[in-house]
Amino acid sequence: MSTYTIDSSTSRANPQPTPGKRLTVPALRDRKGGAPIVALTAYTMRFAQLLDPHCDLLLVGDSLGQVIYGLPSTVPVTLDMMCNHGAAVVRGSWHALVAVDMPFGSYEESPEQAFRNASRILKETGAAAVKLEGGEAMAETVAFLSARGIPVIGHVGLTPQAVNALGGYRARGRDDAEAAKILADARAVAEAGCFLLVLEGVMEEIAVEATRTVACPTIGIGASAQCDGQILVTEDMLGLFERTPRFVRKFGDLAGEISQAAEAYAAEVTARSFPGEGQIYRPKA
Ligand code: KIV
Repeated sequence: MSTYTIDSSTSRANPQPTPGKRLTVPALRDRKGGAPIVALTAYTMRFAQLLDPHCDLLLVGDSLGQVIYGLPSTVPVTLDMMCNHGAAVVRGSWHALVAVDMPFGSYEESPEQAFRNASRILKETGAAAVKLEGGEAMAETVAFLSARGIPVIGHVGLTPQAVNALGGYRARGRDDAEAAKILADARAVAEAGCFLLVLEGVMEEIAVEATRTVACPTIGIGASAQCDGQILVTEDMLGLFERTPRFVRKFGDLAGEISQAAEAYAAEVTARSFPGEGQIYRPKA
């Protein structure tokens, strides 16, 4: 579904909501060393509506593979999924900058493949930026997209799309060689032009050093409070899942609330006390 309507009196396309009111790429880039950037994932219109007033950045993460679709990893996530959820999040928000993850297999082959798929994401969703995983190997692609009007968020450290190569989701950078590689990756994509850089699942000192040395703001997840901003998977921080990674702090207990509500509903249906007088229709007297 399109994020645009045509105004029949002027024949002009009206983006809904108006993107001009949103936080922009330059505005977030300028937050380096300033007020921390607040970011959360969002995959649906309603969550976007609720999160938007509190966030600078809403990321339509490919974590939707596990969170929404019950997939075993982000590897099977498709471009169609990202476009559909990206458009829903744009429709549900007006303030935060919306960025959409490029799914595994949609950008690694060549800068040209990445441009084709990133431009499709921006056209179909109305989002302002894409995020892609990888360091030195992706620097050329980040430069190619950035030079052609596609703002890119980098993502280094623990890169979940590489789970098969990494052998799991353990935090990265415990030994000197791995730490040096993560820092080299961070610098490579930052120098290639990404306007934000996600640092995921890395030893704290790596995050601090990357934040100190790269020009763009860093966004930590399992990284450090000294990053220029933080992101979490919303459903994790809302307590929707019993088991979460160590770096998640639960700011709510949605799983408990949903279970209680479902239990109360089931009890009332069973007792025939729902629907009650207030929820049924009778002919007007
Ligand atoms: O897919 C995702 O949700 C992410 C973030 C949590 C950084 O990449």
